[in-house]
Amino acid sequence: MTTYSLLILPGDGIGPEVMAEVRKVIGWFETNRGLSFDVSEDLVGGAAYDKHGKPLADETMAKALEVDAVLLGAVGGPAYDNLDFSVKPERGLLRLRKEMDLFANLRPAQCFDALADFSSLKRDVVAGLDILIVRELTSGVYFGQPRGISADDTPGNEGGRVGVNTQRYTSGEIRRVARAAFELARKRNNRVCSMEKANVMESGILWREEVQWVHDNEYPDVELSHMYADNGAMQLVRNPRQFDVIVTDNLFGDILSDAAAMLTGSLGMLPSASLGAPMENGRPRAMYEPVHGSAPDITGQGKANPIACILSFAMALRYSYGLGDEADRLERAVEKVLADGVRTGDLMGPEGGTPVSTSQMGDAIVAALAAA
Ligand code: IPM
Ligand code: MG
Repeated sequence: MTTYSLLILPGDGIGPEVMAEVRKVIGWFETNRGLSFDVSEDLVGGAAYDKHGKPLADETMAKALEVDAVLLGAVGGPAYDNLDFSVKPERGLLRLRKEMDLFANLRPAQCFDALADFSSLKRDVVAGLDILIVRELTSGVYFGQPRGISADDTPGNEGGRVGVNTQRYTSGEIRRVARAAFELARKRNNRVCSMEKANVMESGILWREEVQWVHDNEYPDVELSHMYADNGAMQLVRNPRQFDVIVTDNLFGDILSDAAAMLTGSLGMLPSASLGAPMENGRPRAMYEPVHGSAPDITGQGKANPIACILSFAMALRYSYGLGDEADRLERAVEKVLADGVRTGDLMGPEGGTPVSTSQMGDAIVAALAAA
């Protein structure tokens, strides 16, 4: 029997709470579907800093490179806001992305019918929405050199300092993430929209040319369009259903995916997958994480919505373990629970009602799995 390895990194804030619910889901699949998971758990972010003085221990990094998949909760919190930049919780997350070489970040934004009224946009704009943002995750301004803050004695520069980050993309980096987007589009509605700022940035011109090159040479069957990222942001809130797959760089992807997330009603619903090159088992190196953050304002109160983390595990079933049917089953269970009106606080509409706790939501999903 195949045993699927999974490294769980709950991290900070609500991370451990939502991860406890994923554990229940994993337990259900083991008991009822005869699957076998080898689950290990470790620290990341502030939790790792508290123990090791850095946001990701080298042993944890090594473990992440060995497993079939990593599932991460969230990192960061007010207790760590004033730490030196190099040991901030976010650096742990960025190190995982970089050293696992997870260049393609998949952020689906899907509007569940039961939640269409919770979006800040009108129901008829978002109902049935199903788009996928593919964000480049290991390069661009997040990692480009030179970077830093230094003295700058240019006459007239009040304060005497300069902050530098570098937007840098190689053609190879652009081509590989473009391929990921075209592959995914072929399994969906066969359309890719690439977003950059080719009107002001040379790296944007290169981005546009390379995406077009990959299209013309390898994916002529997929419909490709290009859009400036600012227009893309506008189009996302004007008429989001015009898109199928959006491919964009690291920073634009960070921003556009938050905007797309809000279309769906709640940030507490959105999973993500970060995929790299294939490993020996033929599956991509991968890390899965909810799009939401550590939510310090509700930490420890049983209020967090575990669905984004549970749906992230569904993505692991699909992309890392090749268990697409089981992923479908888990997604159906979530949909059923929402249709039944089970709601955590973030999903309460204006009419109010009594929210369930994090743990009750997890239980409801596990109960729904049997019938899904
Ligand atoms: C995200 C987050 C991260 C990012 C932070 C926590 C470093 O905003 O995953 O979107 O900027 O990539
Ligand atoms: Mg972000």
